[in-house]
Amino acid sequence: MSVAKPLPHDAATLHVTGAARYVDDIPTPRNTLHLAFGLSDQAAGTLDGLDLDAVRAAPGVIAVLTAADLPFDNDVSPSIHDEPLLAEGQVHYAGQPLFLVAATSHLAARHAARRGKAQITAAPTTLSVEDALAQDSRFEDGPRIYGRGDVEAALSSARHRLSGQLHVGGQEHFYLEGQAALALPQEGGDMVVMSSTQHPTEIQHKVAEALCQPMHSVRVETRRMGGGFGGKESQGNALAVACAVVAAATGRPCRMRYDRDDDMVITGKRHDFRIDYDVGFDESGRIQGIDVTHYARCGWAQDLSLPVADRAMLHADNAYFLPAVRITSHRLRTNTQSATAFRGFGGPQGMLGIERVMDHIAMHLARDPLEIRRVNFYRSGESSSGQAAPQTTPYGQPVEDFILPEMVAALERSSDYTARRAAIAAWNTSQPVLKKGIALTPVKFGISFTLTHLNQAGALVHVYQDGSIHLNHGGTEMGQGLFQKVAQVAADRFGVDLAAVKITATDTGKVPNTSATAASSGSDLNGMAVKAACDTIRDRMADVLAEQHQCAAADVRFEGGQVHVPQASYSFAEAAQITYLARVSLSATGFYKTPKVEWDRIKGQGRPFFYFAYGAAVTEVVIDTLTGENRILRADILHDVGASLNPALDIGQIEGGYVQGAGWLTTEELFWDDAGHLRTHAPATYKIPACSDRPDIFNVSLWDGENREETIYRSKAVGEPPLMLGISAYSALCNAVEACGPHYADLQTPATAEAVLAAIARARG
Ligand code: MTE
Ligand code: MOS
Repeated sequence: MSVAKPLPHDAATLHVTGAARYVDDIPTPRNTLHLAFGLSDQAAGTLDGLDLDAVRAAPGVIAVLTAADLPFDNDVSPSIHDEPLLAEGQVHYAGQPLFLVAATSHLAARHAARRGKAQITAAPTTLSVEDALAQDSRFEDGPRIYGRGDVEAALSSARHRLSGQLHVGGQEHFYLEGQAALALPQEGGDMVVMSSTQHPTEIQHKVAEALCQPMHSVRVETRRMGGGFGGKESQGNALAVACAVVAAATGRPCRMRYDRDDDMVITGKRHDFRIDYDVGFDESGRIQGIDVTHYARCGWAQDLSLPVADRAMLHADNAYFLPAVRITSHRLRTNTQSATAFRGFGGPQGMLGIERVMDHIAMHLARDPLEIRRVNFYRSGESSSGQAAPQTTPYGQPVEDFILPEMVAALERSSDYTARRAAIAAWNTSQPVLKKGIALTPVKFGISFTLTHLNQAGALVHVYQDGSIHLNHGGTEMGQGLFQKVAQVAADRFGVDLAAVKITATDTGKVPNTSATAASSGSDLNGMAVKAACDTIRDRMADVLAEQHQCAAADVRFEGGQVHVPQASYSFAEAAQITYLARVSLSATGFYKTPKVEWDRIKGQGRPFFYFAYGAAVTEVVIDTLTGENRILRADILHDVGASLNPALDIGQIEGGYVQGAGWLTTEELFWDDAGHLRTHAPATYKIPACSDRPDIFNVSLWDGENREETIYRSKAVGEPPLMLGISAYSALCNAVEACGPHYADLQTPATAEAVLAAIARARG
């Protein structure tokens, strides 16, 4: 059996030897053109004119395009029609593409692009949450509000009441491979596009629109990305459309990649949030009522901001039952990069808000934050103690599979949380300069696209006469190991060795109308679609053999590379031959749609998620109270992936997710100056975690249990949920800062050395 084996990533050797081919490695003819954008240096204003003579005269330049030169639609938005490829009339952020250069080399295009001069009449900028609120600059008419119960009554009758405000920083994706695309013009106006994208169908759609061609004229292929993390759901549209437009105009292949600085200046990042809360609770710390307000800074274009902000609201409860609750969400429009999907898709921001409230309550009552978390946990619907109905989320979904009490108890034991917490408290009293902190935080993350129709997938499987298998599905590979997991499913269905299965590039010509590989649902959706396709072929082969052997099809077994009938055995290749000679098709499509989900995003009611994925982490940190510098010393994680399709890949996702989440909340700081320029646009100023930031002690375990819902082999999605385990690092830092003084320290994120120092000062009063 291939499923459940801890096999390495299918391309691991290619990755580490440098032989893996990314979009920019694909060989192209000598006449290929290289593209670069000329960018706005103003955050807001009117574009009065462009002086591009020096650009046209620059060495190697073949063509220069402005919005007026685009043949058809000037739009690369994935949602509403608000994102011109090249600015027209108004300029909306510093870094916005104004014109496009095609030259004979990448460097020639970049050098030429810098020679452009834009006449922009500057307008007042809207940069911060506060600016946007003052100007009522927003997407949608007003805030969206979800909730239940009488929040005012619950707040005013509660024994204790606290309020606070948290700034949640954004995050740069920092995929190692930047955005890239390549367009190859074909006969009759057709276009083939290679794109580093999580969403080939969206690239196909936008390129077809830009060329005014039907979608059948455009084929998009993606073998792999060097990381996407949500940043390649929509942000690759501009490069692919630019390449296709110039390729169509010149008849020459066109390629484009952003260099790192351009990538950071042009593309959207994680939404930063301001979160305000007002919470009432009893003596035990149990929440009676809570009023939470999200202010999401969405940037200049709508992109995916509405579903991102929705998902933040849907995770404002995390693991906790909130009897009376109001969640208000403002989606603010600002003159900054258009914030976009990033691992967790708003969930992390929403979850951080309530985890912050837990720590605040614990501080106020002088209790262990873990106790406060526990009293607020959802009551499991299937507790052994009885048949109590499951509690429901603020959006009305029953929490039927709540396994966190058991998981947290197991992690508490395995990490020795209680004893270490006491030891840390003792250590802190004897240390004048260094202080340690520890925290345990849980994760409950909803799995499914909230836009219900996206929960579908297709697959195309061929079995050749020699028994080798060609596998294709609509999911994309970005390092997460999706292709390997799905290949394991295919091998398992046919009972053959994994080597018999060829993993192939995602191709819109093979599987149409795909959803983005996102919402962690890649293996849930594509695994099921591939299973359906394989089972169709397998059943046909079984029928052929059953007829020839006068037995029931159900008696034909596929196992160990063999196909067994009651009186005989064939190799899988022989069985394929026999089926072919019987003139029966060895090729099939497969399709899957997620059951049970339904969701009304306006009312904020329904079952947006098929199921929840759970996890918990304990992090121990140390801070230097003189400099604010801090380190993670140890992390212990227990994470729920259901019955794992591949424990090695799953543990990789958990480790990577945790480190990326901890980076978001500690070292990764985005800074825009007063003119709206992003000043942290390279690794010199923007600090992602390095190898040395990995915790010295890092224990990751998988929870032993299967998904109660019928997912592929009862596994659970793993891509995004572990990122939110990183919240325990932030919570541990809050705990360390609290050891510095008697006052509420109000540590803000990212908890950089500066932020920690400021919090220490507040703790001391
Ligand atoms: N892991 C790696 N190595 N690289 C990535 O880009 N993206 C994450 C996650 N894990 C990512 C990753 C995000 S944002 C998502 S939604 C999922 O992988 C997508 O893949 P899946 O649905 O197959 O889990
Ligand atoms: Mo992931 S943010 O859903 O691409």
